[in-house]
Amino acid sequence: MKLEAETEKTGLVGHPVAHSKSPVMMNEAFSQEGLPWIYLAFDVDSEELGQAVAGLKSLGFRGWNVTLPHKVAVMEHLDEIEESAQEIGAVNTVIQQDGRLIGTNTDGAGYLESLVRETGFDVKGRRVVILGAGGAARAVSYTLARAGAEQIRIVNRTEKKAQDLAEHLRRWTRADGISPGEASIAIREADLLVQTTSVGMHPHLEGCPVDPASLHGDLLVSDLIYRPRQTRLLREAKARGAQVHSGLGMLLYQGALAFERWTGRRAPVKRMGEVLKQSLEESG
Ligand code: ATR
Repeated sequence: MKLEAETEKTGLVGHPVAHSKSPVMMNEAFSQEGLPWIYLAFDVDSEELGQAVAGLKSLGFRGWNVTLPHKVAVMEHLDEIEESAQEIGAVNTVIQQDGRLIGTNTDGAGYLESLVRETGFDVKGRRVVILGAGGAARAVSYTLARAGAEQIRIVNRTEKKAQDLAEHLRRWTRADGISPGEASIAIREADLLVQTTSVGMHPHLEGCPVDPASLHGDLLVSDLIYRPRQTRLLREAKARGAQVHSGLGMLLYQGALAFERWTGRRAPVKRMGEVLKQSLEESG
């Protein structure tokens, strides 16, 4: 790619960002579409976040992604927060438009896009159990509630957080927060199980967040972890006849949706998925 005076700039703001796969995926997307755009990663400390946002704005960046730990803190530096991001309580994508900074959240929509495209699952009228009540759980549960899930039960180690999230979701669906001890019964009655905690993530490959005996053949099990691609939870689920869905697609589609917001063009999702997989394989 030729870098010129008119190259359009986008990027990622987080801490750390060294292992992020977004630059490789997004730069490939721009190049595949023949767009003179670039995507750079910026490691920004919490104390410097406001200055970094002001800098990106005055340097004319068209947009940027925001990752941990800045997804909540960035909100106070923006001019407008779209409804999805407001309800989720976090921003992962900023768009600069006519000198205004608009915050949105493509994490939940990216998850749902990936779920539907990869498994054909129709969330309307379905019963969902979500493991975890952190940022990822908020994005996914909000999106599933808005998409018509009939019931959402949140299971979390810290039960209070599960109850708080459930209360928030009650605007759109039937929701409750339950303790890990009640998870098995809930899973037996569920159609979709979404795993949002770090249990089972590299290098703790043997971690499994639920009793494998609660998994069953009428269940779709979705694990947001993408390293490893197949967690122990997904292996246990598959062995019991459940359909499985890995976290790679969420990473891919949250990026694809950001690309579409910035450029106004369809993202080359297939090519982005290929480079993402290749890059993850290269890092072991
Ligand atoms: P993210 O943005 O990835 O969702 P987060 O907001 O820090 O990250 O949330 C992490 C979630 O994983 C929380 O629900 C956390 O449970 P607590 O609320 O009890 O802290 C959950 N989690 C992390 N490690 C866990 C573990 N070892 N066992 C069970 N739950 C865990």
